[in-house]
Amino acid sequence: MREPLQSPVTSCIAVSALAVASMAVGAAQDAEQAAAPTGNPFGRDPAAIRAGDELFHERCAVCHGQKAQGAMAADLVRTRSVRRGSQTALFALIREGIPGTDMPPQPDLADERIWQVISYLRSLALPGQQAPLEGDPEAGRIVFQTAGCASCHIVNGSGGFLGPSLDAIAVKKPSDEIRRDVLEPDAELASGFESVEVETGDGRRVAGVLKNEDTFSVFILTSEGVVEAFERAGLKSLVMPKRSRMPGDYASRLAPEDLGNLLAYLDRQRDPFTPVRRGFGVY
Ligand code: HEC
Ligand code: HEC
Repeated sequence: MREPLQSPVTSCIAVSALAVASMAVGAAQDAEQAAAPTGNPFGRDPAAIRAGDELFHERCAVCHGQKAQGAMAADLVRTRSVRRGSQTALFALIREGIPGTDMPPQPDLADERIWQVISYLRSLALPGQQAPLEGDPEAGRIVFQTAGCASCHIVNGSGGFLGPSLDAIAVKKPSDEIRRDVLEPDAELASGFESVEVETGDGRRVAGVLKNEDTFSVFILTSEGVVEAFERAGLKSLVMPKRSRMPGDYASRLAPEDLGNLLAYLDRQRDPFTPVRRGFGVY
């Protein structure tokens, strides 16, 4: 369906008007990203995020996991619909559920409760959205090297792998949890990195992180960075102490300023799409 013939001048005006209009849309979208988003009255209001966190744990975590990183149902931290989709569409999805799947509708929730849960999910999902932690990340990077963290943790593709990759740690966890991980590693052990100690038939003791096991064998990643396999039948003992392989004395070893800078450095690790090296297969 073509318009009646136009003079070059009017069509040129039409084109530039269109360009202006789409620029305006672009600007509006930028504003939406930067300020309180359309429809959502709460944006990044911390109190709303906390309320959404509570609601999420009452109603959603059972399927989507305690940290929204997926369990029986979808990972909501890395999903496009939460990170980039329209919040109005997300609202409708949560209100109405997804027919034909286990995702239930939420007919009884007040609108503001749904917006709060959206604020919460977006606070988890959008890296770089939380205000940067104070401190000097560059100085923190040096502490990360000198305090030995890099010998067990990968950041930006290099480092050791006795502990989990910290590439996206600030997306995975809020900064107070990261602080606790550093100062009290035994408080909560990252899954997939449980400690194990065995004694072999000939009296050799090996300690490390349990990487895999089956009925007959266990596979241990030792501090030397090698995976050793052991026949269960040949072991004198196998214990799994509820202690981290990570040193527990950083609270006394790190000066407060170094700790602050280190946490600022970890807080900048916000790229959720850096592949996380996990499991036995990668070694
Ligand atoms: C009984 C389990 C269950 C509960 C409870 C539940 N969900 Fe879901 N949810 C699912 C399943 C299953 C899917 C994936 C459906 C599909 O196959 O597309 C899903 C999908 C979603 C999606 C879309 C994910 C994507 O990849 O785009 C969002 C967002 C979501 N759920 C949010 C929530 C919120 C918020 C709550 C709490 C108010 C909640 N869900 C409660 C099971 C559940
Ligand atoms: C000897 C190896 C080792 C050293 C050195 C080490 N860690 Fe760890 N770290 C681990 C292991 C193993 C885990 C997993 C068990 C646990 O949760 O404590 C871990 C867990 C962590 C976690 C939690 C990660 C997650 O995904 O939940 C953070 C954060 C962390 N370490 C930061 C540090 C920092 C910062 C330093 C240096 C100050 C450091 N680590 C030094 C081995 C180490």
